[in-house]
Amino acid sequence: MDYRLKLIGYPIQHSLSPWIHNKFLERTYLKGTYTLHEISLDASFDENILTLKKEEVDGFNVTVPYKEEIIPYLDMLDETAKQMGAVNTVVYREGKWIGYNTDGIGYLRSLESKYPTFFQDKSKRILLIGAGGAARGIYYALDRAGFDCIDIANRTKVSAEEIAKLATLSRNTKVVSLKEAEEGIGNYDLIIQTTSVGMKPNVDTSIFSFSQLKENAIASDIVYQPLQTKFLKEAEKNGAAIHYGHTMLLYQAQYAFEIWTNKKVPMDDLDLQLQAILEGR
Ligand code: ATR
Repeated sequence: MDYRLKLIGYPIQHSLSPWIHNKFLERTYLKGTYTLHEISLDASFDENILTLKKEEVDGFNVTVPYKEEIIPYLDMLDETAKQMGAVNTVVYREGKWIGYNTDGIGYLRSLESKYPTFFQDKSKRILLIGAGGAARGIYYALDRAGFDCIDIANRTKVSAEEIAKLATLSRNTKVVSLKEAEEGIGNYDLIIQTTSVGMKPNVDTSIFSFSQLKENAIASDIVYQPLQTKFLKEAEKNGAAIHYGHTMLLYQAQYAFEIWTNKKVPMDDLDLQLQAILEGR
């Protein structure tokens, strides 16, 4: 089988996904291509999708700003995509387009690859900063993984409250302001930054000020440009172990590739290779 895989979105010329998926094809010895299908702004989304259908792809990724807009064109959604209301991966299977969302599981896999023991103790306390699409996916995955405490801090509390509704019945998620989270930061074992604050070119900004952290706390930022965000630098200064954002990108892609091909790609040193690209080495 010759896999025809694509990425749709706009703009996508600088996407790292073709690099990642071509590495996956190489590593699994599967034949195929992963190419960009940039949405044309001169045509309607409807027309764009019609063109894509004609290309008879086996699967594709969907990126901003179309993760919600794609949904009416799909025949089925998996449970996570339903709960997210957003799709980033589509597979063509038995004549149907089926939508998935691999962000949450991708994040969990990335964390587990770096800090495997974290998952052995579900009483670990987690703080999620932000309440956008990424936060939603990560919250859902952490909740379903069974962690006891997942609190959410966001500038706009109502958005965080919306996410907290995804919780399984037993959970008691606290929604706090950013200031309250800063004051209580010593309570958490894992602090995850999911907003775009600190992303290039605004590298000197951080959504959060750190003070005394809990012993062995981990700070995680899903921003990967730059890799060393101000958030991570400050957390590290305060004694945190850190977790870089580019690994989520890799592992959500690993899960997408698995959906298309049924092959789980061994990651080995791919995170270091991607790190080198991001650091321009
Ligand atoms: P995505 O879907 O990629 O996660 P998003 O939906 O735009 O992105 O989410 C943006 C998140 O970043 C939100 O939590 C947003 O906070 P609000 O809900 O209060 O808007 C947060 N965010 C973005 N810019 C921010 C800023 N300058 N200060 C604080 N929070 C910010």
